[in-house]
Amino acid sequence: MARLGVVSEQKEDARVSATPETVGKIIALGYEVVIEKGAGEKSSFPDSQYEAAGASIVDAKTAWSSAIVMKVNPPTDAEIRKLSKGTILISLLSPSLRPDLLEALSRRGVTAIALDAVPRISRAQSMDVLSSMSNLAGYRAVIEAAHEFGRLFTGQVTAAGKVPPAKVLVAGAGVAGLAAIGAASSLGAIVRATDPRPEVADQVKSIGGQYLAVDVAEQMQSSDGYAKATSEAYDKRAAEIYSEQAEDVDIIITTALIPGRPAPRLITAEDVARMKPGSVIVDMAAVQGGNVAGSVAGEKVVTKNGVTILGYSDLPARLPQQASQLFGTNMVNLLKLLTPNKDGNLTLDFEDVVQRAVTVVQEGAITWPPPPIQVSAAPASAAPAEAPSEPAPKKTMSRTARTLLISVGLLVLLAVCTFAPAPLPQHFLVLMLSIVVGFYVIGKVHHALHTPLMSVTNAISGIVVVGAIAQLNTPNLVVQILAAIGVLLASINIFGGFAVTRRMLAMFTKGDR
Ligand code: NAI
Repeated sequence: MARLGVVSEQKEDARVSATPETVGKIIALGYEVVIEKGAGEKSSFPDSQYEAAGASIVDAKTAWSSAIVMKVNPPTDAEIRKLSKGTILISLLSPSLRPDLLEALSRRGVTAIALDAVPRISRAQSMDVLSSMSNLAGYRAVIEAAHEFGRLFTGQVTAAGKVPPAKVLVAGAGVAGLAAIGAASSLGAIVRATDPRPEVADQVKSIGGQYLAVDVAEQMQSSDGYAKATSEAYDKRAAEIYSEQAEDVDIIITTALIPGRPAPRLITAEDVARMKPGSVIVDMAAVQGGNVAGSVAGEKVVTKNGVTILGYSDLPARLPQQASQLFGTNMVNLLKLLTPNKDGNLTLDFEDVVQRAVTVVQEGAITWPPPPIQVSAAPASAAPAEAPSEPAPKKTMSRTARTLLISVGLLVLLAVCTFAPAPLPQHFLVLMLSIVVGFYVIGKVHHALHTPLMSVTNAISGIVVVGAIAQLNTPNLVVQILAAIGVLLASINIFGGFAVTRRMLAMFTKGDR
């Protein structure tokens, strides 16, 4: 049973990597948990609650000497010196931006697991710290903007006069952007959003925003869930939109990021100068270079024309209790993956893409970057990127072959209808029609709609089960075996369908469960 130490963060971050609730779950995985004294205090988790959950409160030295050390922020040089050879460190590490940190950890001979390197695949969503923190940051950006704005977000008609709703522009509709759109529109503002990934248009609309499409010839397709650098034509048209919007809106929240590059500059000094006095800009990308001219990371700046630009870099930490709870839950989900036997022994399986991706240093050897993983959040492209120079013969059947196949099928149908004894022709006709209708209906359904489709197939499987059960007591053994197989396969479809649907619904259910 390994000892797992939860250490304190530096003064400026109020979060903690485990809460009393998540400590209970870590202990259930077989670990002995120790908490550095006072580690959860700034998140409103006193030591007594950790003790009640089964953890021991220890001094910093004991916590840092644990076999596994857990924290939120990347370790400082002084903290790295506290790690012993062979220790497993789990925290945010920004591996693509901090090669120096990986070198330092490698020299120390430790194993480092980066929570911010979780791949963007459905299975890993429950461990995705970047998503859970961006979600909180997007919400908090709206609250900070509302605080500085000092006016109503919602429109009102009162006896004393009419108040127009505030207008908010959100640049970048990823996780943080969508959270900001949702928060601003729920406060009653008119919200508009931009993003080079066209697949976000429906998501923006579904939470009350208006998607401002940048109409250029080429459309961005994301192969890994992230955006790529935009083209010159896109930037030119987008710049025009930002200039128009800057004159009209009261608040701009920018969240645009491209992995491995400085943040794209979207709002120019001229755009800021065009904004009305009292307007607010929150540049959530300030730390990565900034989306807005004049923003300063971690600071509040007021321009000459009275526009407030916030470059705060600690937005999730401004909601420390919930940030710690979500961070801690992501951590528990990762530990569940790394402790398959629930015996308090952390194992790393490099055959698993998630475990491979998060392990950035293994026993002193740098294992970053991992081999690329292809994940796509984009819908199927309407037109191919390049026109193929020759038609691809293997994909499309020739007209003659198709005519021949249809003729043979019709002949078989005719033969069965003429010569087979009743009621076989009738059943055969129904079977043929079902195959044709099923092929065209199900085959044409978009991947994104497969979950609702499952409900329909569940209903069909239900009919199959009833029919197959009715055939189980026939005297013919072959029919009995086929009926039993039918019941089994259709039941798998039904119960599997329910299980998946339940998981999907749980993702959208509000409240604690
Ligand atoms: P991010 O933080 O890297 O980028 C933020 C947003 O900025 C993105 O929506 C991006 O398209 C946008 N952006 C980039 N360049 C821009 C420009 N020039 N102008 C305007 N916007 C620009 O990405 P984030 O928010 O962490 O996630 C992006 C997407 O990844 C999500 O919408 C989702 O589809 C996918 N994702 C998948 C996960 C999973 O399957 N486990 C988990 C989290 C996200």
